[in-house]
Amino acid sequence: MSVTVLVGGQWGDEGKGKVIDLLADSVNMVIRSQGGNNAGHTVVTGGKEHRFHLIPSGILYPETLCVIGHGVVVDPKAFLLELDELQSGGIPARNLVISERAHMVMPYHPVLDQLGEEMRGDDRLGTTWRGIGPAYEDKVRRIGFRIGDLQKPAFLEKKLRFVLRLKNESLTRLYNAEPFNEKEILDEYLGYAERIDPYIRDIYPLIQDALNDGKKILLEGAQGVMLDIDLGTYPYVTSSSPTAGGACTGSGIPPSRITRTVGVFKAYTTRVGYGPFPTELTDALGDQLREVGAEYGTTTGRARRVGWFDAAVSRYAVATNGIDAMVLTKVDVLDEFETLKICTGYLSKGEYWDHPMANISHLKHVEPIYEEFPGWMSPTRECRRYEDLPAACRTYIERVGELCGASVNVVSVGPDREHTLVRTPLLD
Ligand code: GDP
Ligand code: IMO
Ligand code: MG
Repeated sequence: MSVTVLVGGQWGDEGKGKVIDLLADSVNMVIRSQGGNNAGHTVVTGGKEHRFHLIPSGILYPETLCVIGHGVVVDPKAFLLELDELQSGGIPARNLVISERAHMVMPYHPVLDQLGEEMRGDDRLGTTWRGIGPAYEDKVRRIGFRIGDLQKPAFLEKKLRFVLRLKNESLTRLYNAEPFNEKEILDEYLGYAERIDPYIRDIYPLIQDALNDGKKILLEGAQGVMLDIDLGTYPYVTSSSPTAGGACTGSGIPPSRITRTVGVFKAYTTRVGYGPFPTELTDALGDQLREVGAEYGTTTGRARRVGWFDAAVSRYAVATNGIDAMVLTKVDVLDEFETLKICTGYLSKGEYWDHPMANISHLKHVEPIYEEFPGWMSPTRECRRYEDLPAACRTYIERVGELCGASVNVVSVGPDREHTLVRTPLLD
């Protein structure tokens, strides 16, 4: 038996999709445990690109059971669109189940997400407008709808009557927006129910059997540690827990069963949306990094903010998640930079910090302490073994591992599976 948790170690988009795809055909089950269709995970196989938002990135392997766990918020419309796209591309996705306990994004959630952002004005977060925050709010407020409710039309109708009163009250009074119609929502969701029904399962026995039968399980994290509702740069975070702890609650796998936690990190840093970013580059060098790295969002197409690798952030991610293996992606993007920098810690009001502080106005104004490295100025994309990388590149990678307190076991030098250098295998 092995249970591997994979988390993003920065602000998301570290290349988790690629790594999940690499491992998915060697495991029996891939479970998504949090987030929703705010995520965008890219998998490139044989030059063909797939983008996953809700469906686990292991779906390309028919022998691997893909589970949408109960920590995920599922927009049924987005889910069916993604499923249709896969099926019309020749991937039947029969190996897919959704926990009956997973909450649903309702039609008013994306609307409230966008209206809430507009009302915040200059303090907006830069959310994906997918309704993620409002859906988790309702879950915690205990007025959410779960996927299993699709199988209970009378319950759905009764509860919707009550919940919609609350929602329409804020829509019309607070935001001066159009109210939602109960019957329209009911018809729409009962239409989805027919198609989603075959995928709905009680995942408890499935997962317990897998654990007890010694199966290999991979937990696919979405977002990243710095977007975590508790550990991240609050309030500039998402509304779930993209950490190893969140993987346990979102799937029902106990912490004692986790055998390894893999952290995926980009060789530099990116972030979409607002919030502090100590190593951000807002100059021509930043533009170069964004262009070479094609740093435009998978979900919203927004330009990602870019900056140097921040070891203060990454060591915090390693420590709070128990990351015992790091994957460093997009190393090839740094091929043409003469000088590279790694931030080792911060100075804030004359004081040294080895990790990001909770106070985000302080974090916004820290002075990063940098170590400089000569660039390797040669292409790495065609390297197939770690030893083939230029010496300066290996020095950079090894220093990243040293500063973060974990070893870099896998290095990625391109989007495709073959652009992967394995120093130590991630799975036993
Ligand atoms: P995720 O959300 O963590 O799965 O990451 P995204 O898919 O949103 O963004 C990562 C992007 O980088 C995708 O377009 C990947 O195809 C691409 N990518 C992944 N690894 C590498 C790499 O090593 N080099 C390059 N150049 N691109 C990569
Ligand atoms: P993957 O899984 C990068 C960011 C949004 C915004 C903040 C809150 O592809 O790494 P939300 O819509 O979640 O309420 O937005 O979180 N965000 C991501 N950034 N990658 C993601 O997912 C993200 N999911 C949410 O840009 O700043
Ligand atoms: Mg992404």
